[in-house]
Amino acid sequence: MKILALIGSPRHDGNCDILVNKLVEKLDGEKEVLFLNDLDLGYCNACQSCQKGDCIKDDDVRSIVSKIEDADLLIFSSPIYFGQMSAQAKTIIDRFYMISQNPERSLDGTKVIQVFTQANPSDAFDPYIESMKTMPFGFLGMEVVDTIIAKGAGPKGEGIEEAIKKIDEMEI
Ligand SMILES: Cc1cc2nc3c(=O)[nH]c(=O)nc-3n(C[C@H](O)[C@H](O)[C@H](O)COP(=O)(O)O)c2cc1C
Repeated sequence: MKILALIGSPRHDGNCDILVNKLVEKLDGEKEVLFLNDLDLGYCNACQSCQKGDCIKDDDVRSIVSKIEDADLLIFSSPIYFGQMSAQAKTIIDRFYMISQNPERSLDGTKVIQVFTQANPSDAFDPYIESMKTMPFGFLGMEVVDTIIAKGAGPKGEGIEEAIKKIDEMEI
């Protein structure tokens, strides 16, 4: 199994980083963890070039998207920023246009585990995180097989105990 994990937080050793690495350790297969903030991520220009061929942007996102196409499992992780995913994570999602607009490319059948972290201890962002199952992932033919949300997680490594327990107990 090929596993690609994308960390959408800019904080090394932060909550997403800790949880993703815990999850990756647990899985067997060929694994790669990418820290999006350390890479060259450009925004989608909406130039529509991908409808006629490849994305014209020469940045790291092209290879990240190719790696996702190759992967059996995508671990998609982001902190909640103002009620939504981080800009780093959203930049990758928007660049999925190069897949959705190109009939020769597909993410059909790729499994996804979502890992979100938030300082708010409530369920306030559950509907947003739940909606990711249909848009963008379902829309792209991807299947969210599990979601881990660390609630009440502010400072690095604090408030993630429940999420770690869930990962420990996951049967994958
Ligand atoms: C710009 C910014 C916006 C944030 N917005 C929210 C928010 O809307 N709701 C929330 O619960 N936490 C919010 N947080 C807190 C982070 O989601 C939380 O600390 C998270 O665990 C950080 O994950 P990390 O350690 O992987 O970076 C925000 C943090 C930052 C830096």
